[in-house]
Amino acid sequence: MITKLSVNINKIATLRNARGGNIPNLLKMAIDIERFGAQGITVHPRPDERHITYKDVYELKKCLTTELNIEGNPQEKKFIDLVLEVKPHQVTLVPDLSNQITSNHGWNTLTHVNYLKDTIALFKSHHIRTSIFVDADTAMIEGAKLTGTDRIELYTEEYARQFELNKELAISPYLKAANIAQQLKLDINAGHDLNLQNLKYFKQKLPSLSEVSIGHALISDALYFGLENTVQLYLRQLV
Ligand code: PXP
Repeated sequence: MITKLSVNINKIATLRNARGGNIPNLLKMAIDIERFGAQGITVHPRPDERHITYKDVYELKKCLTTELNIEGNPQEKKFIDLVLEVKPHQVTLVPDLSNQITSNHGWNTLTHVNYLKDTIALFKSHHIRTSIFVDADTAMIEGAKLTGTDRIELYTEEYARQFELNKELAISPYLKAANIAQQLKLDINAGHDLNLQNLKYFKQKLPSLSEVSIGHALISDALYFGLENTVQLYLRQLV
C-alpha cells in the first residue's frame, strides 16, 4: 500500500517571516516539493500567523496539484471559516492552544466526542476528508471512531523518542493502535518527529499507513542534502 508523503511547510514560512519579505518563496517551494515527488503539502496556520498566514493558504490552494492538508484547532472560528472556504483535500484537527510551540498531545476523543462529532460532520458535509490527531491509545481510537472521522493521525513523538532506546518497545503501542483502527475501519495517518532514522521502521511495521506528515526534520535535512534529494530520501523510506 502506498503511504503518501505530505510535507509540512511551516518551517519555510518561519524562515520567510524572519525578514518580512518573500524569501524563500513559499509557493514556489511548495510547487517544487510536489515536483520532487511529495504527494501532499501540509500547513498549520495559527491565529497569530507566526508562520503560515491565512493568505498563504488561499494562494497554495490555487497552485497546488497534489493534496492540501490543513491542520489546526477548530475552536478558532477563523480556522473553520478558512477550511470551509479553501476546501482542502483534508483537514486535520489538533487540540493545540494558540500559543503552543508545536502540537504536543492528541485529542481526548471521549471528553470531546460531541464537539468533534459536530465539527467533523460540518467538514464532511462540505466534502472535506477529516483526520483527528490522537495518541496511540486504544480508548482514544475507539472514541475517534464515534466522532465519524475518516482518519486518525497517530501522534508519533513518543515513538520517535523511544526509537532511539528500543525500537521494538517504541513501535509496540502503535502496532496495537493501528490494529484497532483497522478493525474500526479508520484510515491511519501519522506525524511528529518522524525522520530519516525512524521512518522506515515505522512504515515497515505499519504498512497500511495512508499518509505521513513531516516538517521539522525534513526541512532541516534539506539544509544538508538539498530539497530535491531530501524529498527523494524520505520517499525511499516509504517503499
Ligand atoms: N502532525 C501534526 C498534527 C503537527 O502538528 C505537526 C507539527 O506541526 C506534524 C505532524 C509534523 O511534525 P514535525 O514537524 O515534527 O515533522
